[in-house]
Amino acid sequence: MKKIKNLIKVAIDSPAAAGAGTQAKLISEHYNLLHLDTGRVYRYIANIKITEVKKFNYKYLRKKISKLKIKDLQNKRLLSDKVATIASLVAKDKKIRKIVYKFQLKCAYNPPKKYAGSCLDGRDICSVIMPDADIKLFITASVKTRAMRRYKELRAKNNYVDYREVLKSIKKRDKNDINRRISPLKKTKDSILLNTSNLSIRRCFLKIKKIIDRKIAN
Ligand code: C5P
Repeated sequence: MKKIKNLIKVAIDSPAAAGAGTQAKLISEHYNLLHLDTGRVYRYIANIKITEVKKFNYKYLRKKISKLKIKDLQNKRLLSDKVATIASLVAKDKKIRKIVYKFQLKCAYNPPKKYAGSCLDGRDICSVIMPDADIKLFITASVKTRAMRRYKELRAKNNYVDYREVLKSIKKRDKNDINRRISPLKKTKDSILLNTSNLSIRRCFLKIKKIIDRKIAN
């Protein structure tokens, strides 16, 4: 694949609900970058597994992902905890990761011309998808903080949720994502660690902005 030169490339990895998606969105708006929340692609596949049981096979997925548009990933159904749990299971499948890989590369290295670059967030972005990114971040927070944030988010959407259930589900996903054999979640040596447990969204954004501005200036 031909890679467009002189793009600003930002790669972010994080465990579930650490606030990486929010930061990636803010950064992308600020620097005019194409934003891809890569977890949404695995959620999109999980949703197919749930709703199109009989059609679910690699060939069908390949076809669906080849036609995928970022706006298809905005579907609210993808936000449920059930979809998230199935997503972390389908994400262990080597063939599925290969299908998703191509889509991610296109977004990372060939964003539409109107963008100054790309910003991808997920689990294996710094290690596998964009190892040559200009800015690499590992955003995390304590598991209780992450569970509380996700709990409040779901409550705000009027969903019935039990905090303990949310905590359990996040711990289970962490376990799946960290311990899987292929593309596990891990901090690469060259990425900058940001613990957001005691940081507001704004303060976290300003920290990241400082890192990016410094990098762009050099
Ligand atoms: O980030 P989000 O919680 O939406 O991701 C859903 C699931 O997709 C994760 O728990 C993880 O298993 C999987 N995922 C992945 N690699 C990525 C992004 C997400 O395996 N780059």
